[in-house]
This record gives sequence, C-alpha cells and structure tokens, in this order.
Amino acid sequence: MSRDLAIDFGTFRTRVYDKARGLVYDEPSVAAVDTRSREVVALGAEADELVGRSADHVVAVRPLNQGAITDFDMAERMLRAVLARCGSSRMNRPKLLLTVPSAATSIERRALEQAAKAAGASSANLLESPLAAAIGLDIPIHDAVGSVIVDAGAGTTETAVISLGGVVASRALRIGGLDLDRAIASMVRHELDLVVNAHVAEELKKRIASVAPDAEPVAVEVHGRRPMTGEPGHVNIEGALVNRGVRDLVQQMIAGTISCLSETPPELAQDAIFGGIFLHGGGAQLHGYAELLSGATSVSVNIDTEPSTVVIRGAGRCLEDIGRLRSLFSSAHR
Ligand SMILES: Nc1ncnc2c1ncn2[C@@H]1O[C@H](COP(=O)(O)OP(=O)(O)OP(=O)(O)O)[C@@H](O)[C@H]1O
Ligand SMILES: [Mg+2]
Repeated sequence: MSRDLAIDFGTFRTRVYDKARGLVYDEPSVAAVDTRSREVVALGAEADELVGRSADHVVAVRPLNQGAITDFDMAERMLRAVLARCGSSRMNRPKLLLTVPSAATSIERRALEQAAKAAGASSANLLESPLAAAIGLDIPIHDAVGSVIVDAGAGTTETAVISLGGVVASRALRIGGLDLDRAIASMVRHELDLVVNAHVAEELKKRIASVAPDAEPVAVEVHGRRPMTGEPGHVNIEGALVNRGVRDLVQQMIAGTISCLSETPPELAQDAIFGGIFLHGGGAQLHGYAELLSGATSVSVNIDTEPSTVVIRGAGRCLEDIGRLRSLFSSAHR
C-alpha cells in the first residue's frame, strides 16, 4: 500500500510527517562525505556529529543552500535515505507533498520535484511554505482576511501575506540563521583572533546573541584555533560582540517584512495589523527578534510554542485533509 508523506526539505533541517504516525523524522539536512572517495559516510544527526570529530577529509555537505537545491545528486541521495528511514521501499513508494518557499523559481521547483521522484516517490506535489505555515498555525486561510506570516529559516527569511487560500504578497530574502552564524564566526576571528567552527558559532547565537534594545550583558568561554598557527585557543566572548555580528543581517530581515507590508493592498494590511504578525521558523527564537520586529512595524508579533515545526505540521494536516485542500497544491510546472 502506498503511503502519504509530507516533507519540509529545509536548508538546515529535513522534517517528515507521516499521515498515520505524525512527525517521524526531524534531522539536519547534512551528509558527511569522504572527500577522497566521494562516499557518503553518514547522514542527518549522525553526519552532523561525525564531521567535527573525524579527520579533515570528512566534510559536511548540505544539498540545499538559501532554500534551494544546489547539489542535486546529494539531494536525491539524502531524500532516498530519509524515505528509507521512514519505512518506504521499492515496493512501497510514497506519495509526497513537499513544501517550497513561495520565492522558489520554476527551475528550483522542478529540481525538488525531480529529486523526490528520483529518490523513489511515486508522485510529488508542491505546497507553498507560507500556506503550510498558515495551516499549521490554525489560521483560517480560505477567509478574505489578510494574515502576515514570517518564516525565519536558516537559508531564507520569508514574509508572506495570505488571503483567500493564496499568497497575495511575499518578500523572500536569501539570508537566514546560517548567515548569522557565519557573521558571528567572522566577528570572533577578526576581533579575537580565534577560528571557531559552525557549531560553536551557532551555539553563541542561541545562547548569548540578542537583538533586544536592552540586552543584558553576558559572556561565555569558547574554544577554537588560532588562525596563524592552527593551535588550540580559547577566549571569553561578550554578548555585545556577537550582537554586533548579527545586527545588520537582522535589520535586513526586518526590512524585508516592512517591504512586504508596504506592497500589501491597504485593506489586507489593515487586517494584518489587527491580527498581528505570525513569526515562526528556528530563527524566531533569536532573543529580541520578535520585540525588534514588533517595534519596527508597530504590529504585535505572535510566536508559536514550537516555531520550528509549524510548516511541517501544516503540510501534514494537508495530507489528512487532502480532498478539501488539494486546490492549494501545485506541480513544479507553473
Ligand atoms: N534559539 C535559537 N536562537 C536563534 N536561532 C535559532 C535558535 N534555534 C534554532 N535557531 C536557528 O534556526 C535555524 C533553523 O531554522 P529552520 O529549522 O526553520 O530552518 P530550515 O527550515 O531548515 O531553513 P529554510 O527554511 O531557510 O530552508 C538555524 O539557523 C538555527 O541555528
Ligand atoms: Mg524552513
């Protein structure tokens, strides 16, 4: 019997929802590759752990960059492995519903659809991520009322206004949490002469970064390497330094939301101001982001209690209600 699965193939994490079992997979979109043999030695969480701990010739490869597939072969291999982990086989090929950023080009949509089919799907439908998010947030999407949804992802930051079951305005920036990590690593290297890996930079962002106007002073000790000699080193890093690293990027993300609101028809923008902005995605948890966004737009900001799984929960609900919601799906060829 063929199974129905929803997949949010994100830049940072891949999430799968099984119609019968709910959320069955939530792991990093990472493969550990041996650069000498080109072999994939691990995938997902295992790959993420392996890369920092093994020899230099094992590197992390992400098949997506800025919300789109950039390594087709790796995307297919990763999806195949993910489907196998979720119980699919040659005899039991699933029907997939894949979420896609509304800014994705037709080539990017087709690449996603083809990677899914090459990985073993019997069919692949696409669903715009902001619509999936709205469904995950229990927003009545078919009403003639505008709702603003902001997805702060790892590779993209997307603002969309939804009304009558469609996206009426959207603004997607190809910047996100991974860019914040890179900015933090760069700041630490230039100001403190220490090279830190991507995991350390991400931890600094989660633990001590804050874009709140009245951020408390904090500091943590981190370990890395000296750039000139490669020797191990450690420094005390203050929150203020990390905040300087991320501030400009966060301002750009917020400017994206403002620009989307300014392009929204006035009556829908009015509804949106009334209903507030719905902020989700892993980056929604950045300290002070919601407050800063609210201050800059003069609109209240709501954050879901589980902001990272809003899209996949909404896509999963579409599987349960497939007949009524089919009109929302699109094929890659639009
Ligand atoms: N507490 C936190 N504070 C700040 N950022 C966080 C926090 N928790 C997670 N993140 C960031 O959220 C990002 C992951 O978010 P998400 O899972 O929404 O990404 P994604 O869906 O894979 O990416 P995209 O939608 O852009 O393709 C990562 O950059 C991660 O570091
Ligand atoms: Mg996402």
